[in-house]
Amino acid sequence: MRMVKNKHNKKPTSLRCSPFSLVSTVVGCVFMIHLIMLYSRKYSVDLEVSSQLLIHHPIVRELERVEEENIHMPPPRKRSPRAIKRKPKRPTTLVEEFLDENSQIRHLFFPDMKSAFGPTKDDNDSDTLHHFFPGRIWLDTEGNPIQAHGGGILYDERSKIYYWYGEYKDGPTYHSHKKGPARVDIIGVGCYSSKDLWTWKNEGVVLAAEETDETHDLHKSNVLERPKVIYNSDTDKYVMWMHIDDANYTKASVGVAISDNPIGPFVYLYSKSPHGFDSRDMTVFKDEDNTAYLIYSSEDNSVLHIGPLTENYLDVKPVMKRIMVGQHREAPAIFKHENTYYMITSGCTGWAPNEALAHAAESVMGPWETLGNPCVGGNSVFRSTTFFAQSTHVIPLPGVHGAFIFMADRWNPADLRDSRYLWLPLIVGGPADKPLEFNFGFPMWSRVSVYWHRQWRLPSAGGKKIA
Ligand code: GAL
Repeated sequence: MRMVKNKHNKKPTSLRCSPFSLVSTVVGCVFMIHLIMLYSRKYSVDLEVSSQLLIHHPIVRELERVEEENIHMPPPRKRSPRAIKRKPKRPTTLVEEFLDENSQIRHLFFPDMKSAFGPTKDDNDSDTLHHFFPGRIWLDTEGNPIQAHGGGILYDERSKIYYWYGEYKDGPTYHSHKKGPARVDIIGVGCYSSKDLWTWKNEGVVLAAEETDETHDLHKSNVLERPKVIYNSDTDKYVMWMHIDDANYTKASVGVAISDNPIGPFVYLYSKSPHGFDSRDMTVFKDEDNTAYLIYSSEDNSVLHIGPLTENYLDVKPVMKRIMVGQHREAPAIFKHENTYYMITSGCTGWAPNEALAHAAESVMGPWETLGNPCVGGNSVFRSTTFFAQSTHVIPLPGVHGAFIFMADRWNPADLRDSRYLWLPLIVGGPADKPLEFNFGFPMWSRVSVYWHRQWRLPSAGGKKIA
């Protein structure tokens, strides 16, 4: 009775546990939640606005033009019942067409020499000079296709020259046994130099294969992949880290080489199982404080390991963290933007393309969080196959804050020397697709976007040197 009476009182005599206080608490809470949501929505709208602003900034407008790709499946070929019996399975997806060396649309993924680009091709044509054509054959200053697969770039501050190191694969592709992956014998690590990131001079093979000693890590019958070079200012040495393996990928080690000069010759030092573990796809990352890190796929590619190098960069320290545990990622490429570390990785499907993922971390040693697929443009198959390519390295795009060049390999398992390079603009900005982690309602990470382009050029490369 008393309760009912109080309910209609304008001034309740007691606030203790009264329905009014309950209602006002609930209303207050709802109001607060609403405020927080409004605020965080405004924040994400702000992020969108700032990414839109970025898109409309005259410098990056060209970089942000997203291109669609309309690749149609070829019509089915007429086949005799005998042929069907012999080889019943016809490619049914675009990825299968990509991997089929007899595909009628193969030229779309691997355009021939006629469409090659580079300094010897495009003398003074301003429509193509200094333009990147991802997937086409890229020629060096002598007119030869560049051989720097699975590569990385070192920027030499003193000479203001870029050096591109990669697998020199200009040999025949074969299978060492029936079920083994396609391979090319080790020839060595190719090195190219450039002042503008487009005109590349061949500096030769800076670390060569061993021809005779079969016990040597670099014997041509083995595997040398993903070489990366960093400069150590304390020792004034250029240090190369690479994946060293046998033809069956059972050795699973890292190798180290050293040189006084960026164009070599590099002296091979040794190989090892870092931290006592197997190591396959790998990279090294040098931070702003000069600490360098080795990142490698380990425990049968199920997890990435990361750990600092010793001060002279010639070994790993005993410290190691397991990151992206159980996620089966490889082809790591790390970069840093505004005190946040980012990484692009691929899945583990050998030479076949798969979906890239972007990851972010506040500390390079982790924890790392997965943001989602960074690929924008093309079509959905392009986006789910990293534009039919695989990450290898990311470098800052000269002159544009928050912009980078994503370097990837479009592997050609039928003829590995003819694998292509995809260099595409990568932008950090805007809200992430999957901001799994929130701090007081605010997404912790920015989006990482790699934009598909059939043709693009660096913003400051209007015919002049950019370095
Ligand atoms: C990929 C790897 C390449 C190469 C290839 C061999 O997964 O990223 O670097 O090792 O496998 O099949």
